[in-house]
Amino acid sequence: MKGIWTGAAALVAALAGTAGAASYDDIAPIEVYGQHFFYTNNGSQFLMKGVAYQQNYSPNGTTDSNASYTDPLADSAGCKRDLPYLQQLYTNVLRVYAIDPTKDHDDCMETFASAGIYVIADLSEPKTSIVSDDPEWNVDLYRRYTGVVDALSKYKNVIGFFAGNENVSSGNQTAAAAFVKAAVRDTKGYISSQNYRSTMGVGYATADVPTRDDLAAYFACEPGNTGNATQIDFWGYNVYSWCGDSNYADSSYGERYDFFKDYPVPVFFAEYGCIEGITGGPTHRPFTEVQVLYGNMTDVFSGGIVYQWFMSENNYGLVELQDSDASVSPYPDFTSLRSELASVTPTTTARSKYTPSNSAPACPSTGSSWLPVASPLPPSVNPQLCACMAASLGCNIKSTDESAYEDVFNYICGKNDGKYCAGIQHNATTGDFGALGGCAPKDQLAWVANEYYNGNGKSASACDFSGVATTQSAQTSSGCGTLLDAISSGTGTVPSPTGKGTAAVGTETGAASGSKSKGGAGSVSPPGFVAYGGLIGAAYAGLAAVSMAGMLVL
Ligand SMILES: *[C@@H]1O[C@H](CO)[C@@H](O)[C@H](O)[C@H]1NC(C)=O
Ligand SMILES: *[C@@H]1O[C@H](CO)[C@@H](O)[C@H](O)[C@H]1NC(C)=O
Ligand SMILES: *[C@@H]1O[C@H](CO)[C@@H](O)[C@H](O)[C@H]1NC(C)=O
Ligand SMILES: *[C@@H]1O[C@H](CO)[C@@H](O)[C@H](O)[C@H]1NC(C)=O
Ligand SMILES: *[C@@H]1O[C@H](CO)[C@@H](O)[C@H](O)[C@H]1NC(C)=O
Ligand SMILES: *[C@@H]1O[C@H](CO)[C@@H](O)[C@H](O)[C@H]1NC(C)=O
Ligand SMILES: *[C@@H]1O[C@H](CO)[C@@H](O)[C@H](O)[C@H]1NC(C)=O
Ligand SMILES: *[C@@H]1O[C@H](CO)[C@@H](O)[C@H](O)[C@H]1NC(C)=O
Repeated sequence: MKGIWTGAAALVAALAGTAGAASYDDIAPIEVYGQHFFYTNNGSQFLMKGVAYQQNYSPNGTTDSNASYTDPLADSAGCKRDLPYLQQLYTNVLRVYAIDPTKDHDDCMETFASAGIYVIADLSEPKTSIVSDDPEWNVDLYRRYTGVVDALSKYKNVIGFFAGNENVSSGNQTAAAAFVKAAVRDTKGYISSQNYRSTMGVGYATADVPTRDDLAAYFACEPGNTGNATQIDFWGYNVYSWCGDSNYADSSYGERYDFFKDYPVPVFFAEYGCIEGITGGPTHRPFTEVQVLYGNMTDVFSGGIVYQWFMSENNYGLVELQDSDASVSPYPDFTSLRSELASVTPTTTARSKYTPSNSAPACPSTGSSWLPVASPLPPSVNPQLCACMAASLGCNIKSTDESAYEDVFNYICGKNDGKYCAGIQHNATTGDFGALGGCAPKDQLAWVANEYYNGNGKSASACDFSGVATTQSAQTSSGCGTLLDAISSGTGTVPSPTGKGTAAVGTETGAASGSKSKGGAGSVSPPGFVAYGGLIGAAYAGLAAVSMAGMLVL
């Protein structure tokens, strides 16, 4: 009898398996091993058949400081509505661009897990992302990134995260790569320090820009070959070069295949699906690239993510929502994508038959087309350090009006050859990083005001700045001692934070509240010395007598 029962249970399990009824708790995670993704349950190679899944979201960056977003994984009715159609496209991955960590994602994650669908999530949101022309890796971003990781870490169908998307999109923005790589390092460090599932990876999704080869090398290199702490876990490529009935050569897929053959981590198309010059218009994409992507490219590329599910102003949608968003109507390109995907039979490699052989590439050398030095990276962001620092000063900032800060930054950083501002430097081209370059503007300003105050005989009048600053009694809170050593060592080496990233920390103020968060568009920044680095002293030497208001604009 026992045998029969076991058999019945196995049969039920098998049927459930056919229906793919795994919950997010027992779906097999995907892992990175060498250049490929694998299912952890059986070592089969995992090729992405993905769809970009977020309504009314422009992943290409925005300067609109009011931009908002709708979390696609918090809309359980929407997820259920879309699932049958996603399944028609053999979908096994959704890419989401911005989720709201405060929302509940259980329903959608369960819906998708039960169909064998995994998720890759970008970590930023429109107001809190690494800004291409004024890049930073700071407390605000750290809280946002770790908040998303906290919110999604319990779902075993999360493959990982993107620490940035197209943040380097033109030749003069390569310095932004340093701050994204610092974000990769700290997010990986956070996953590990919180003992979250170690198979969750952190990567970057690049635009198809002229610096793409340098970018790819930079994110995969480990200066000094010191393990993989700063290396991306996977590389996403947003590629729109196969338009209509293109081919392997004209689309440059061939070149990309050759370039990534030796890459140490998985590479996949993080967006694809060109709509240009398509006969019949954008909703009639033939998707002939599918034959090649899932044909002879699979030993180098792990599939791809079609851009995108929802129709929007940019015309890339595969489906239209109807009946007040209650139902889905596929466009013709949905149908062609389905039949292209139906006809591929990719060749895959089992984990047991595969030995990774590619090692980390050399870091790109700096020059006119590649600015950031390989080492050091911007220091770890550590909210506790910022809080400890602010409490330890004799001169602090009392004004919370960030619009008053820029004058003061410019004034102080213009004195004494910029030395008062060394602690907050973050110049990726020279590799000069102060330990406090990632603190909130208020804390950074407190630091430089205090330096000025110390340099001017600690007189109360040297800690005023038209009422922006005030003296205080310095305190060293418990646990701050060793952290504060990071500042005095002057090297910009900051210990990794401990504890939850989003937890309120000490007396730290000024971050994450209000619309003027650093890192978002329209943020307050201490640009004077940042942008003008070593020139400050000279530029300001003759201006010492001018009132602070006169030094406003750089
Ligand atoms: C391995 O497991 C995955 C997920 O359950 C499944 O889709 C795949 O078909 C399995 N591979 C083999 C060879 O059974
Ligand atoms: C995003 O920007 C890149 C580069 O600027 C461009 O090639 C691509 O077409 C854009 N993608 C979308 C979906 O607009
Ligand atoms: C930077 O990357 C994030 C994704 O992590 C993206 O939301 C944002 O739009 C990017 N910023 C720019 C300016 O491209
Ligand atoms: C953002 O919203 C505020 C308040 O509605 C408005 O005053 C401001 O002009 C908006 N900014 C942009 C860039 O749209
Ligand atoms: C890159 O060039 C553009 C156009 O000249 C300019 O607007 C932008 O500020 C520059 N970015 C950087 C980081 O220098
Ligand atoms: C990174 O290095 C650690 C420690 O050596 C190792 O356990 C892990 O598998 C590596 N991760 C990847 C993606 O190679
Ligand atoms: C891959 O397939 C394409 C299209 O069939 C072909 O042009 C190309 O030469 C093939 N590449 C390799 C490396 O076999
Ligand atoms: C970094 O420093 C160099 C050399 O002083 C300077 O030319 C450059 O403008 C600085 N970059 C930034 C973003 O401040």
